[in-house]
Amino acid sequence: MIDKNAVARCFGKAAASYDQHAILQRLSSDKLLRYLPKSSVRSDDVKVYSSTVDLGCGSGALLPALANCSETLIAVDLSMGMLSYAKAHNQLPSQPLWLNGDAEALPLQSSSIDLCVSNLALQWCDDLATPLIEVSRCLKPGGLMLFSTLVSGSLDELTQSWSTVDSQRHVNRFLSEGEIKAALLKSGLSVDTFEVAVTTMHYASVKEVMLSLKGIGANHVHDKEAKPTTQGELRAFKANYETLRDNQGLLPLSYKLAYCLLRKH
Ligand SMILES: C[S@@+](CC[C@H](N)C(=O)[O-])C[C@H]1O[C@@H](n2cnc3c(N)ncnc32)[C@H](O)[C@@H]1O
Repeated sequence: MIDKNAVARCFGKAAASYDQHAILQRLSSDKLLRYLPKSSVRSDDVKVYSSTVDLGCGSGALLPALANCSETLIAVDLSMGMLSYAKAHNQLPSQPLWLNGDAEALPLQSSSIDLCVSNLALQWCDDLATPLIEVSRCLKPGGLMLFSTLVSGSLDELTQSWSTVDSQRHVNRFLSEGEIKAALLKSGLSVDTFEVAVTTMHYASVKEVMLSLKGIGANHVHDKEAKPTTQGELRAFKANYETLRDNQGLLPLSYKLAYCLLRKH
């Protein structure tokens, strides 16, 4: 079971450093928004959606784009720290409704939403089907759910580098493509788009790799044993990672992302 309080705390602590480190998140959200129907943004300034949710809004980076096509914006996040940061730092012409809530139990009325967008948040839920069923409940007929999430194969360089060091869990488990497709089926929503793509980030040192995860608050590992990592284990992990340097002299860190556009009939 995912410790939601621990996840919220981790993201809350990272709120102030998040934007500086969220390079993958911006690549992912730029790509994700391209899957919105072309008709979503109209040149005559008419808002196509009356009510849009940014689920797991984090520091609020998607809100300006969503505000362009939505009359009412609702920004939901599990982490109060992230929500407070987003509230204090956004420059939106009109304020969204800020909701501290869990994707698995949305504090929203049934059939009240036209569009729900969620970028790289749902991998923090116990079971992808649960938030998708919740979103389906909240969508109006014809409503859209657009999300990205991590797929197994993400952060493999970390898994690989720890594998010979100890038997502890150092990296969260991500769903396989098959498991994601099974969750989509359970949600009852129809699938307009399902695409998987790998994005590899590059870093100068193992320290930078680890900072990139800590900086966005993604360093919480579910069900990790309380046993602290020793200096020797850390050295062995770093030595293993060093063997992965590419011909540019950089260390890779791969993310496998699924991009999905779902529709409620
Ligand atoms: C990697 S950040 C992505 C933030 C933002 N969507 C972006 O693109 O920058 C993940 C966010 O999801 C939130 N989150 C994690 N689990 C959640 C849940 N069960 N319900 C709602 N938000 C959640 C975290 O607090 C965090 O702000």
